[in-house]
Amino acid sequence: LDRMRMIQDAHEIEILRRNGKLSSKAVIEAMRATRPGAMEYELEAAAVAHILKNGAAGPAYAPIVGSGPNSCVWHYNRNHRKMQAGEVVLMDFGADLNHYAMDITRTWPVSGKFTQEQREAYKVALEVQKACIDAYRPGVTSQDVRDHVAEVMKEKGIDPRGLTGGIGHYVGMATHDVGPRGVPLQEGMVFAIEPGLYYPEKELGIRIEDTVLITADGCEVLTKDVPKEIDEVEALLAQRKMK
Ligand code: GLY
Ligand code: MN
Ligand code: MN
Repeated sequence: LDRMRMIQDAHEIEILRRNGKLSSKAVIEAMRATRPGAMEYELEAAAVAHILKNGAAGPAYAPIVGSGPNSCVWHYNRNHRKMQAGEVVLMDFGADLNHYAMDITRTWPVSGKFTQEQREAYKVALEVQKACIDAYRPGVTSQDVRDHVAEVMKEKGIDPRGLTGGIGHYVGMATHDVGPRGVPLQEGMVFAIEPGLYYPEKELGIRIEDTVLITADGCEVLTKDVPKEIDEVEALLAQRKMK
C-alpha cells in the first residue's frame, strides 16, 4: 500500500490540483485578514472558513499561525497571540480535500512592508526554494537537488547558512506521506519543498513552502496561486482594508 501511495494517478492528481488552488486561496484570505492588533487565530479562522465553504473536510493538519517569536516555533499551533506591526507572521496551512492533503507556508509582514532585515532573510529562503523547484524532475536524487542549490547560491553570491528543511517530504493521503527516502524522483510523486531560516534571538522565522507534482520533464507547483515574490506579497497586503 505504501508503494501505491508513492505515485499519484490521474484521479488523485485532479484532486490534488483542486486542493492546491483551494488551499492557496485560503492562505490569501488569511493574508487579507492580517493587521496589527489581530489575533493569530483570526488568520486561521479566515483560511478555515474558506476551505469549509468550498467542500473540504477541514485542515489537513493543525494550522500554524506564528507571529513574531512564534514564527520560530516548529509546529506551533496555539495561534493565540496578538500580532504587531514590525513583525512577520508565518502561516503553514493546507486543506484535506477528498482525503488528499496540501501543504503551504508563507511568511509576510504584519504591517504590509518587510523591514530590511526581514527582506534579506526572506530572499535567501526564496532563492533556495526556487532553486529546489528548478531541480525537481524525474531521475533526480536529493543529493542532486542539494548540489544544484549549492551551485545556484554560489552563482548568486548568497550564503545559505542557517537554512533548514529544504528538500521536504511526500504529500498525498497524509501531509507527511509514506514513501521511500533517497530514491530518484518519478513522474506522479508529490512533495512539499519547505526551506526556512530561523533566528529566535531576532524573533524572526521565515519559511516558504510549496507542494509540487513531478511531471515528465520537471515539476508543477500546485500551490503557485499564493504570491511569494516580495513585491507580490507587499502588493496583496496593500489592498487590505485596515480596520
Ligand atoms: N505542515 C507540516 C509541514 O510543513 O511539514
Ligand atoms: Mn507545512
Ligand atoms: Mn511540509
